Amino acid sequence: MIPNHIKDSSLAELGKNRIEWAERDMPVLRQIRERFSKEKPLDGINIAGCLHVTTETANLMRTLAAGGANVRLCASNPLSTQDDVAAALIHHYGISVFAINGEDNDTYYDHIESCLDFNPQITHDDGADLVATLHEKYPDDKAKNIWGSMEETTTGVIRLKSLAKNKKLIFPVFSINDAQTKHFFDNRYGTGQSTLDGIIRATNRLIAGSTVVVAGYGWCGRGFATRVKGHGARVIVTEIDPVKALEATMDGFEVMPMSEAAPLGDIFCTITGDINVIRPEHFELMKDGAIVANSGHFNVEIDAKGLEKMAKKINRNVRPMVDQYILPDGHSIFLLGEGRLINLSAAEGHPAAVMDMSFALQALTGEYVAKNKGDFTVDVHDVPAEIDKWVAKIKLETMGIEVDKLTEEQEKYLASWKIGT
Ligand code: ADE
Repeated sequence: MIPNHIKDSSLAELGKNRIEWAERDMPVLRQIRERFSKEKPLDGINIAGCLHVTTETANLMRTLAAGGANVRLCASNPLSTQDDVAAALIHHYGISVFAINGEDNDTYYDHIESCLDFNPQITHDDGADLVATLHEKYPDDKAKNIWGSMEETTTGVIRLKSLAKNKKLIFPVFSINDAQTKHFFDNRYGTGQSTLDGIIRATNRLIAGSTVVVAGYGWCGRGFATRVKGHGARVIVTEIDPVKALEATMDGFEVMPMSEAAPLGDIFCTITGDINVIRPEHFELMKDGAIVANSGHFNVEIDAKGLEKMAKKINRNVRPMVDQYILPDGHSIFLLGEGRLINLSAAEGHPAAVMDMSFALQALTGEYVAKNKGDFTVDVHDVPAEIDKWVAKIKLETMGIEVDKLTEEQEKYLASWKIGT
């Protein structure tokens, strides 16, 4: 019996069909899986994943298992688990899963513990909750067992860099997020599309003609802002970074502080990585019926507790994923998905075609860690540039796109530039 804790085994067939659907758009990962099946580079290694339990993650888990690893998976967010995928992973692919959509905080952390129970040597995280648990609870035993850990997301990398800076990091970690074939694509096109998808699925509101306020103009924010503009919205960007604010301005967006944007927006979305970006003083200024959502990793960007305190009445689930807060002056604010990341709570996360690159990086960097264990300093490392390049090259090939090669003359010309000699 494969250790597991999931919602409903009877969903396994549906999950398998959806995993195979996603796989069609993941040709780079498929190539890696085929090679892993023959070469078994992860033979006998215990690998724990704390990732969104989606069809795309299922294909990463299959790839690691094909490489010979013993794999355990738990959720990196209580609301993003696709229960049919969890069931299929156990019943069709023999992979251990501990994840239930809507699990409470204690169950969420019990599931992380279940993944750590089998003493993994390699981990894959999205948001660094697994690595944080290893550091907080097992610094002298399980953490010492880790050869290396991969981190998927901006927020997780910020947490890990802070651990490293404070000399608290115990084992080497690799920032998948900083790889070019990750953040240029997953953050921009993946978050861009899936955030819009989540807001539309939750509300069915017309975007054309709406005023959408986007808080944060990192790769995720700019992806989302561009996509809502394409749907015909008036887009306002708020920022704290002058360079990003300038970029947003020159990309054609209106830029202003949240206090000025608050009365103008019909839909608000935070994608900053910071806390309390939208606060009571902003809710007070918003229009009746304003919709507020978050697409940052943690549910800290909107001050939902502050909103709750202000409200004279709360109607939960006026439709799935939508809570209505009626303020003392009678105007309503609609909060989506309890302020949790909307692209994975109300929609299915990034499309498979973009996760193909992110998860190819995860699989190949895991293989690199297995091959070179013990050789790394305890720090936050970049993914090796060759892996990043390879993923771009193969992705292009699978899309049938060719690029030019340097001629001999061009190579010589470029090589002849010697700066400072
Ligand atoms: N993060 C964002 N989208 C995702 C997806 N589809 N699967 C796993 N992790 C994700």
